[in-house]
Amino acid sequence: MRPPSRPSCIDRGYREWRETVLLNSLLDRLDALAPAEDKGRLARRARAIRQRLEAANALRFEAIRVAIRRGEGRDALAAFAGDGEACRAGDAYDWRDELVAGVLPFGEPGEAAALPPEMVFYQPTPARHVFDLLDRLALDADDVLVDLGSGLGHVPLLTAICTPARGIGIEIEPAYVAAAHACAQALQLGNAQFVQGDARAADFAVGSVFYLYTPFTGSVLRSVLDALRCQAAHRSFRVCSFGPCTAVLAAEPWLAGEDAAASGRVAIFHTRR
Ligand SMILES: C[S@@+](CC[C@H](N)C(=O)[O-])C[C@H]1O[C@@H](n2cnc3c(N)ncnc32)[C@H](O)[C@@H]1O
Repeated sequence: MRPPSRPSCIDRGYREWRETVLLNSLLDRLDALAPAEDKGRLARRARAIRQRLEAANALRFEAIRVAIRRGEGRDALAAFAGDGEACRAGDAYDWRDELVAGVLPFGEPGEAAALPPEMVFYQPTPARHVFDLLDRLALDADDVLVDLGSGLGHVPLLTAICTPARGIGIEIEPAYVAAAHACAQALQLGNAQFVQGDARAADFAVGSVFYLYTPFTGSVLRSVLDALRCQAAHRSFRVCSFGPCTAVLAAEPWLAGEDAAASGRVAIFHTRR
């Protein structure tokens, strides 16, 4: 997904996007630091610039959505997503997350129910890690990436947008599944599907790649890993993880880490034959 060359209009859009993010953060600091009477002309001017850039962004997001519906989302997003910067380690968010949030048309998801112990609340994988992972996986049309505990569905949606593979999300919270499904429909992504249910009851036969952003711990994680190990007895696939569950996966004897040592990025494991 690295753009070999960017047309100049994309370059301009990319620069404006970065400027908006910077300006937003400066305005937030100004709001926090300056007493109301000191803000004056400078703040008004900054707000006017922000409004202009936000309007430009809204147009740009819509143009990317149109490209996605035409099946050209990979190129439209790659110009912003894989800008050649190294994938910064860690779980902090950056401007790419604002970009993805602007492009993916999620409605306001309904209230999520409290989760039982050992099940982890929703937090999306930072977008740069999703783009970095999709780059490294090099999925083809026969691949099926299954996100176990998919939340609002960023990983299956970006898989469907940026690769020829199918993305499937398994998520226990019905409100998130409804929002992810509506987003896939709005973008006409036939290769993104979402299933509501407990990952322990998932159909593990369909995936060629399984992804876990530490969706559960303890006995729930154990039971999912045991189900995957059963699959690994008769076929090969990859398991990818982000966050604390990576240490558990790295200790599984049926998995071999491709780059588990590359901490801070998504780890990719292969099943051992
Ligand atoms: C840390 S979030 C990861 C979200 C998503 N995979 C991503 O990376 O953007 C964990 C998600 O797993 C879901 N979850 C927790 N336990 C689950 C279970 N047993 N089965 C399915 N989903 C579960 C939570 O509701 C939450 O949305």
